Amino acid sequence: MLQQFGKGVAITGSGAATPAVSLTNQDLSQIVDTSDEWISSRTGIQQRRLAMPGQSLCELASIAGENAIAMAGIAPEDIDLIILATSTADDLFGTASQIQGKIGATKAVAFDLTAACSGFVFALVTGAQFIRNGVYRNVLLIGGDVLSRWVDWSDRRTCILFGDGAGAVVMQAVESDVADSEVSDTANATLRDRLLGFEIRSDGTQNHYLNLSYKGEAKELIAGVSVEQGNFQPITMNGQEVYRFAVKRVPEVIEKALFRANLTVDQVDWLILHQANQRILDAVAQRLKIPPEKVISNLANYGNTSAASIPIALDEAVREGKIKVGDTIATAGFGAGLTWGAAIFQWGK
Ligand code: ACO
Repeated sequence: MLQQFGKGVAITGSGAATPAVSLTNQDLSQIVDTSDEWISSRTGIQQRRLAMPGQSLCELASIAGENAIAMAGIAPEDIDLIILATSTADDLFGTASQIQGKIGATKAVAFDLTAACSGFVFALVTGAQFIRNGVYRNVLLIGGDVLSRWVDWSDRRTCILFGDGAGAVVMQAVESDVADSEVSDTANATLRDRLLGFEIRSDGTQNHYLNLSYKGEAKELIAGVSVEQGNFQPITMNGQEVYRFAVKRVPEVIEKALFRANLTVDQVDWLILHQANQRILDAVAQRLKIPPEKVISNLANYGNTSAASIPIALDEAVREGKIKVGDTIATAGFGAGLTWGAAIFQWGK
């Protein structure tokens, strides 16, 4: 008799899409009082890509998704679920369904998930649950953001940081059923599950450090009945507090995820952090004693692309041949919410 242990998860394809237009630090110094020297030394960022007017999140996210589906060797019709991690939806009712329609994922259900720069890790963990409980076989996870829409381009403390883009992965079910006569320890049952451990966290008491908030004004409809109408306001951030939070919480959450994975730091082949700031990447790697050659960094070219940054960095490293099948990756997102989270997985089937 077979005992059902659910299914394991494998991440089998990746893709990315970034706008063609870039804005260098030098360009930015024409807009605000800043310099290439200040931005490079404080953040490591040299340029960022910006979506042009009319270029939608749906468009970028769809290309990233199609590339991931192609690498996984399946067809859009095979996708059961699409999760779009974003804070900058084209439509507040949701953008994932538009992507589903655009790429022809005819049988997929699609929804948006918002957890700022932690969004991709949160989506990865959410998608894995649907596979592990046996409901879905093929899940497309996309992280995409067009923060340039919501940046205050006169605020030098924030406008230097952000860029636009989308990245995606395909997550597939791999069987992990074993006959109960073989189950002497449950480790056998999860041997083929490539998501080895995770931990996701939130702390709303620190929400005020990083916001893209709605603000409205009362509008009277009839005597005694008013509603509030308004719009989202540009990003505000307490950079020093966010920095402090990231450097403290990210190593902790990675250690927790590694503990769950029953792995030590030396067994990590690659560290892919949310690409916010090179100084944060360096500080986290140092605290974890992960050598710089294992740290994936591409923020010099793209800036902070929020939910897109991890899958874009992953996709580049896979396509460059750095990351190989079976490599163990520690990834962590952190940002507004405040939210943070880590996942440990092995690349490929
Ligand atoms: N150019 C020149 N000078 C600047 C600039 C700039 N672009 N920005 C700030 N300064 C000035 C400040 O006015 C300040 O001057 P003062 O001392 O005369 O007042 C000085 O530089 C130092 O400013 P700090 O804010 O202390 O600079 P800091 O070293 O903290 O670096 C930074 C700022 C880069 C924003 C850093 O705090 C950081 O990276 N924090 C993390 C931010 C982050 O990652 N946010 C995204 C999270 S992801 C998400 O969820 C969206």
